[in-house]
Amino acid sequence: MASVLPDKMKKLLITGTSGFLGWNISQIAEFDWTVSGTYFAHPLTIPHITLAKVDLTLFRDLKRLFNDVKPNAVIHTAAMTDPNFCQQNRALSHNINTQVPINIAGLCSGLEIPCLFTSSDLVFDGLTPPYSEDDEPSPISFYGEQKALAEAGMKDRYPSTVICRMPLMFGDPGPVAANFIQPMVHAIQSGETINLFADEFRTPVSGRDAAKGLLIALDKLPGIIHLGGPERISRYEFGKLLSETFRFSNARLNPCRQEDLKMPAPRPPDVSLDSSKARALGFNPKSLKEEMEALRD
Ligand SMILES: NC(=O)c1ccc[n+]([C@@H]2O[C@H](COP(=O)([O-])OP(=O)(O)OC[C@H]3O[C@@H](n4cnc5c(N)ncnc54)[C@H](OP(=O)(O)O)[C@@H]3O)[C@@H](O)[C@H]2O)c1
Repeated sequence: MASVLPDKMKKLLITGTSGFLGWNISQIAEFDWTVSGTYFAHPLTIPHITLAKVDLTLFRDLKRLFNDVKPNAVIHTAAMTDPNFCQQNRALSHNINTQVPINIAGLCSGLEIPCLFTSSDLVFDGLTPPYSEDDEPSPISFYGEQKALAEAGMKDRYPSTVICRMPLMFGDPGPVAANFIQPMVHAIQSGETINLFADEFRTPVSGRDAAKGLLIALDKLPGIIHLGGPERISRYEFGKLLSETFRFSNARLNPCRQEDLKMPAPRPPDVSLDSSKARALGFNPKSLKEEMEALRD
């Protein structure tokens, strides 16, 4: 396989650059790579980055993208990322979440270039945390299943694929995306009461630390790698930390249990990731408090 050492002469293709994570990757990758990116429904411009509107589910258009960009490496982030939407739109979301990653692995295999896929902690059922790379996927939602099928299909199509399992992420979403923190801040500022699970645990990481981890993984592996944050925390405790850090004195946070709120997609109780393999490779995400302070300031 070609060397993956970054070099400004080398071209990195990031799918889903209009999304939260794709935008965060683009912000640091541009220092070492010539970056091309894609969007679909949300047009944007990013200085120094060539962007194309592509429906990745159309194989002809995907192939044309590869022909136009001639990438030396690919980070595939584009997906339908709302588990509730995926639960209610299984066939539609299967296409972008499972078939497209496998197609991308096939194209990367043909070019013998590094291919990195952003999978999810939701490939696990949440019953036996923390999860290491050796644990077998055990998804309980269609979204988790689609990600697990994509992982397996990509490895089958192109064994050199790098699979990064991402935790819950937060931070600056860029110009056209969003993540769960902005609606939370807005609701608190509007004086709304927010119900937050006290019995649902994740290992969140900021988008910018996640982006750094992905570039480390692209450089160091094939294989599976977990890019979880340094702290295991419930949604409720996360909301409390956010309120304290942002100095919201009147936040109305209501601790509740998963069983109190019925949603289309089943929710695993604790998909905390064991990310010691990534730490050993130099992935060193900041504490939640530090990242929230940076967002506040
Ligand atoms: N955010 C998290 O907390 C989290 C946690 C675990 C794993 N992940 C994984 O990390 C990756 C990035 O997540 P994210 O939060 O950045 O997602 P996001 O903000 O929802 O962005 C999704 C991206 O996919 C693009 N997209 C969707 N359908 C497309 C299609 N048919 N053709 C081309 N592009 C399409 C969107 O483009 P437009 O917006 O322009 O339509 C957007 O750029 C995903 O693979 C997700 O499964 C995310």
